[in-house]
Amino acid sequence: MSSHAAGVGESEWFVHDRFGLFIHWGLYALLARHEWVKQSEQIPDDVYERYFEQFDPDLYDPEEWAALAAEAGMKYMVVTSKHHEGFCLWDSKLTDYKATNTPAGRDLLKPMGEAFRARGLRVGFYHSLIDWHHPDFLIDDVHPMRNQPDREKLNEGRDPARYREYLHGQVRELLTEYGRIDLLFYDFSYPRRDEQGKSQPWLGKGREEWESEKLLKMTRELQPQILVNDRLDLIEQGGWDYRTPEQYVPKEGVKVEGQPVLWEACHTFSGSWGYHRDEASWKSVEQLVGMLIDTVSKGGNLLLNVGPTARGEFDYRAVERLKGMGEWMRRHSRSIYGCGRAPEGFETPQDCRLTYNPETRRLYVHVLGWPFRHLHLEGMAGKVRYAQLLNDGSEVKMLEGGPGHVAGPVGGGSQARLLTLELPVQKPKVAVPVVELSLK
Ligand code: GLC
Repeated sequence: MSSHAAGVGESEWFVHDRFGLFIHWGLYALLARHEWVKQSEQIPDDVYERYFEQFDPDLYDPEEWAALAAEAGMKYMVVTSKHHEGFCLWDSKLTDYKATNTPAGRDLLKPMGEAFRARGLRVGFYHSLIDWHHPDFLIDDVHPMRNQPDREKLNEGRDPARYREYLHGQVRELLTEYGRIDLLFYDFSYPRRDEQGKSQPWLGKGREEWESEKLLKMTRELQPQILVNDRLDLIEQGGWDYRTPEQYVPKEGVKVEGQPVLWEACHTFSGSWGYHRDEASWKSVEQLVGMLIDTVSKGGNLLLNVGPTARGEFDYRAVERLKGMGEWMRRHSRSIYGCGRAPEGFETPQDCRLTYNPETRRLYVHVLGWPFRHLHLEGMAGKVRYAQLLNDGSEVKMLEGGPGHVAGPVGGGSQARLLTLELPVQKPKVAVPVVELSLK
C-alpha cells in the first residue's frame, strides 16, 4: 500500500488553512445529551425510533452555517455524514435510515456542501465505521446492546460481510455524488485480537472488519486529492495522511520517527460533540483563541466542533464563540494562515507562543500573559526590521543590546543579543495580542 499517499501538493491547503469547523449532527440532537447517548443509556432501536419519526430541523439554513464558519475565519468543514447511531444525513440508496424518510423529508448533506463551498470553504466528511443500527453489525463490547443477556443469540445471522459491503457502498456514494471532498475522517477502530492475532469482531473491530486497505484504496481512487485521517487501524501500515489527537493538544506537536507529520487536533466548545443542552463546561473565546494559537505554534490544525440543535441551528453559545473567534481572526489571521512552528533557534519568550510564516518571513509573538512593558527576546537583536501590534498596526519600539536601554537588570543570556520589545502598559482589547516581527 502506498504510505502517506497524499503528496505535498495535496496537503498544501491543509497546512496553510489551519482552522476548520467540525459538525456533529444527527438524531442525537433531539435527545440533547451527547452523541453517544444510545450507547451510554443502552437505548434499544424501537425506543430510538421515536427520534427518527420526530426529526424535523425546520430552521436549518446551511447558508447561515457557512456564513458563521467563514466569519469565524474557518477555511474548511467536516460534517458527520453518519455517526455511530447509523442515521444518514444524505439520501443513501442503500438504507431507509436517512433524513429523507424523516419529517425533514430531504437530503440535508447536499445543500450543506454547496453552501460551504460557495463561501470558499473546503468540504470533508466524518464517516462512522461503526453502526449501531445496521442489522448486520455484530454486537460487540461498545454496542448499545452489549449487556443484553441474549447477545450471542442476537448476533446469530448477522453477516459482517454484508455490513462491510454497506460501509464501502455508502462511502462510494458520498465520494461520487457530493462533489469534491477534501477530507475523510473515518471513525473509529477498536480492534480486539486473540493471542494468535486473530480478530474477534464480537468484542471489537478494526481493519479486518472494515477491510480498511480496500476502503482506503477506493477512497483515494474516487477522490485522488483527498486527505484521510488515521482511524482506519492502519497506523503502522502508513495508511493515513494526518493524525487526529482528540480533546487535547500534544505537548510538542505530532512526530512520527522524529519527523513532524500532518496533524489536526479536534475539540468541542463544551464537553460533547453532539448538541448538549445541559452541559456547562463551555470554553471561553480567549481560551479557544489560545488553543488555536498553541496548535499552530506546534505545527498543527484545529478543528472546532459545533453540534447543531434539532431545529437545525447553531445554538447561541456556539454562535457567541464563533463570533468571538471571528472578531480575533479578522485582525490576527495573518499569524495563523500560512504559519506554523517557528524555525529552530527562535526562543519563545515567557507566556508567549510563536508562529512563523516562511513565505513572508514574519514571526508572530502571541502574548498570552500580558507583561509589564517589556518582552525580552533572546538572541533576536539585529534580526528584526520592524515590529508592530497586529490589532491596530501600531509600532512596537525595539530596544537592542541589553540593560543599558531599559531600566534595571534584564537578567540571563547574552545581553548583546537581546531584543526587548516595549509594549503599552495596557493590554490591547483583544483576546490575545500579537506582535508581528518582520525579519531582516
Ligand atoms: C470519537 C467519538 C465521537 C466523536 C469523535 C470526534 O471517536 O466516538 O463521538 O465523533 O471522536 O473525534
